Amino acid sequence: MAQLSQILKQATGVVASRGEGVLLYDEDDRRYLDFTAGIGVTSTGHCHPRVVEAAQRQVGTLIHGQYTTVLHRPLLTLVERLGDVLPPGLDRMFFANSGSEAIEAALRLSRQATGRPNIIVFHGGFHGRTVAAGSLTTSGTKFRSGFGPLMAGVHVSPFPDPGHFGWPTEQATEFALAQLDYILQTLSAPADTAAYSSSRYWVRAATCRQISASWRPAGTRRRARDAAGARRGADGFRPHGQVLAKRCKPSRTSTTRSPTCEALA
Ligand SMILES: Cc1ncc(COP(=O)(O)O)c(C=O)c1O
Repeated sequence: MAQLSQILKQATGVVASRGEGVLLYDEDDRRYLDFTAGIGVTSTGHCHPRVVEAAQRQVGTLIHGQYTTVLHRPLLTLVERLGDVLPPGLDRMFFANSGSEAIEAALRLSRQATGRPNIIVFHGGFHGRTVAAGSLTTSGTKFRSGFGPLMAGVHVSPFPDPGHFGWPTEQATEFALAQLDYILQTLSAPADTAAYSSSRYWVRAATCRQISASWRPAGTRRRARDAAGARRGADGFRPHGQVLAKRCKPSRTSTTRSPTCEALA
């Protein structure tokens, strides 16, 4: 008998039969308060009447207008509406099917635009499961183990996570910035570094947000500070965690420094 692959595990054993607002119902009609919101996908609640109405209307009009074959009005309207809310200068949209594809697009864009090969990511980030996105993912060995060799040109920098290091925020930030400098001095010269991803949060978001908020040209300490500021919302973007209120679990919560951190702090 066919079975669902066990490669992806579910967080709960619930078999959801329907959803309504913040509630999910299982096949025995038990109610659950859904704190995950489909990892941000159902941010208006399950089966919001306006979303249901719009989806039903669209399915009855045109189910799929493949966008390398034809354009269609909803696509063009979405581009316009996003253009209205994005900061000046972010005026090119690219749509993909998944977060991993968005990451791959950002990767290709930054390499092509800069002509540089390397990418720096924060330790503990999740970027997806495809080979390139998985090469940037360091939130668990399960995303890497047995799949190597992964993509070359990726360097991993510590994330300024006070909970992980057991340090005050300022100390964790200074440490992370110093380590980023160290990587730029010893592993990936600025002239070879296409981008770094400041994302440490699990996020389900439009490609444009991923490229603009998470991916930044890399190479200087000032830019590193800009990235730290971006996390705090200094550039007008809210940190992903605030947008979705869904943060990936720290890999470990510790009040002890690792020997490496002691040596380098
Ligand atoms: C920050 C981030 N990037 C990439 C992805 C990968 O998305 P997908 O599973 O749609 O490929 C996720 C998925 O949760 C994510 O949270």
